[in-house]
Amino acid sequence: MYDIDKIRSDFPMLQDKKMQGKPLVYLDNASTTFKPYSVINAINKYYLEMNANSHRGDYDLCYNMDVEVLLSRKAIAKFINSEVNEVVFTSGDTESLNLVAYGYALDNLKKGDQILISETEHASNVLPWYRICELTGAEMCFLDLENNRATVNSVSNAFKKYKNIKIVALAHVGNVLGYEINAKEIASICHSNGAIFVLDGAQSVPHMPVDFKDLDVDFLSFSAHKMCGPTGIGCLVGKYDLLQKMSTFHSGGGMNVKFDKEGVIPLDAPAKFEAGTLNLSAIMGFRAAIEYLEKIGMDNIHKHDVELFDYAISKLENHDNIIIYNKDARSGIISFNIKGVFAQDEATLLNSKGIAVRSGQHCAKMIDDVIKTPATVRMSTYLYTSKEEIDIFVENLINGGDILDAYFFN
Ligand code: ALA
Repeated sequence: MYDIDKIRSDFPMLQDKKMQGKPLVYLDNASTTFKPYSVINAINKYYLEMNANSHRGDYDLCYNMDVEVLLSRKAIAKFINSEVNEVVFTSGDTESLNLVAYGYALDNLKKGDQILISETEHASNVLPWYRICELTGAEMCFLDLENNRATVNSVSNAFKKYKNIKIVALAHVGNVLGYEINAKEIASICHSNGAIFVLDGAQSVPHMPVDFKDLDVDFLSFSAHKMCGPTGIGCLVGKYDLLQKMSTFHSGGGMNVKFDKEGVIPLDAPAKFEAGTLNLSAIMGFRAAIEYLEKIGMDNIHKHDVELFDYAISKLENHDNIIIYNKDARSGIISFNIKGVFAQDEATLLNSKGIAVRSGQHCAKMIDDVIKTPATVRMSTYLYTSKEEIDIFVENLINGGDILDAYFFN
């Protein structure tokens, strides 16, 4: 049984917080999530009890941090089913994708090669690839989406249309439309066409079971802060042979066997990608977040998202003035507009009611061509979102009416 009251009691940000003098209704979880006490305690534990560097000392405090880092790496590997040494700590999803771009693509792509993405990707999964194209002479190409989705068929067709695709990079779940792609089949198509498949898991790993080995993707990226963990920490998970062949992106202490006047000998992966002092408190907090999610169960978290999605859609879909762009997504994301109301005005109105949503293009700046609107309002749920919060959101949306009326006459 999913005990939403118990879950909510685990989060300080859900204890009587107000925004604009109204009880806070937080529906911007695709952007970042709240942290439970257990995560905050783990971060504090580092500073209060354990403060030392890792991999750099011969005294107990330092050794204890080596163990903490290893335990966190093991917890992440178990969570997404990879080998422990396939987990590279990064600052988050963005750095993970940049690591694939600079560590893999820069060495392996040349003029005329192609990188396939979709117009629905967020900036982290677009801009590193543009930079690689500038540096190598490779070119970007884009999927012909089917019903705004990256389908197996659309990827198959892309390999017929473009002859030199070397990298396919797609979001497992889109951050605006919330559609899940069939990552396993897409990986298989990529491999049979000689391309690698980079799966951006920023919006999937926090919300559903994701099995790196079973999907057989080459790289998987995600951030801790979207899954109850701290900011400034995330992972790139990569097949070990690829990680070993990749160049380092950051160089510095902790990533080399030795350096001298002849040059540098890097350590094996993952250490060779982790130059400098690690974000140790966040690494401890990340493990606490994973333990928290595992306690609730990823299947249960996904089911909760879908239940709230269905509930919200059933309340919204009969209102003609509400345009929903992803009615069939069944994930934790609903993107919509009120007819005739600019998205940012709607989000500002909701803010005045204590409701936090995001508006605009949500870092996916090419999506306007896909959904034919310059901006949307996005509400996004997580494991602690309640039905009552959906009711408050829907009530305010429906009764917002004309936004100017709302501002001047309410
Ligand atoms: N990519 C994050 C979002 O979708 C920041 O809001």
